[in-house]
Amino acid sequence: MAASMRERALVTGASVGIGRAFAEELALRGRDLVLVARDAARLEQAAHDLSRRHSVAVEVLVADLLTDDGIAAVAARLASLPAIDLLVNNAGRGSHGEFAAVPPSEHLELLRLNVAALVELTHAALRPMLERRHGAVLNVSSVAAFQPVPREAVYSATKAFVLQFTEALYEELRGTGVTVSALCPGLTHSEFQLRSGTEPTRLPSFMWQEASAVARAGLDALEAGRALVVPGLHNKVLGHLSNVTPRSLARAASGAVVRRLA
Ligand SMILES: NC(=O)c1ccc[n+]([C@@H]2O[C@H](COP(=O)([O-])OP(=O)(O)OC[C@H]3O[C@@H](n4cnc5c(N)ncnc54)[C@H](OP(=O)(O)O)[C@@H]3O)[C@@H](O)[C@H]2O)c1
Repeated sequence: MAASMRERALVTGASVGIGRAFAEELALRGRDLVLVARDAARLEQAAHDLSRRHSVAVEVLVADLLTDDGIAAVAARLASLPAIDLLVNNAGRGSHGEFAAVPPSEHLELLRLNVAALVELTHAALRPMLERRHGAVLNVSSVAAFQPVPREAVYSATKAFVLQFTEALYEELRGTGVTVSALCPGLTHSEFQLRSGTEPTRLPSFMWQEASAVARAGLDALEAGRALVVPGLHNKVLGHLSNVTPRSLARAASGAVVRRLA
């Protein structure tokens, strides 16, 4: 296919972890790419590597999604040409610790990155996609969305927002030619735990997934037009249990697990 005709995806948080795995998998599927994150050196290295190995065009867009300027720069790229056919809202951060012990500024940063930036970028992407009646958005939530998680109260609430928001849009967008899906990973090897100070070393290895498997599951679900995907059998079982368990019991179980691991 001619380069100008190829579909183009914009991935936020593409410098490392699940976002870097999305970039790899999308390049493998023949998509041109726009890679977004703050670490310019890592993005340039990824762009060089992916364009060489997969013969795709890769743009680098260095942006801090905690700033108005950073969000505006990515929104402007979503509205310009060559058109973006797929937005992957993957950039995100965790937090750990008792709510009252963490400075409010940290809680607000988490809301800004995990929620506000995702909403703004989804809006910026959807307008041109709806005009063309073609496009897709993949929002990265978490299994933490399925129940409240003590000591990660704000993080789990941001991911519940992403899930609820995405499922509402899924229904709203029916018949428009534009689709949206939510990806809810469980524990995944990346820099996430290190950056959030949440390394759960006492959890068994079978509970961990590779970022590549998580990214593949998300893209497969999007292509199949599914509203929601939970990668990994163990995560699916946990998600199902959360759905069928009374809210008070799910909340208490989550509290007991967190107290045991603390
Ligand atoms: N790993 C898990 O166990 C897990 C489980 C469930 C859900 N998730 C979700 O998966 C997504 C990806 O996480 P990950 O595990 O791949 O984490 P990660 O390895 O820490 O990667 C996070 C990515 O987000 C980018 N990022 C962070 N702050 C940013 C900012 N202010 N502006 C722009 N980009 C920023 C980082 O790039 P720079 O530092 O270069 O900016 C990096 O590329 C997140 O939404 C996370 O909540 C992860």
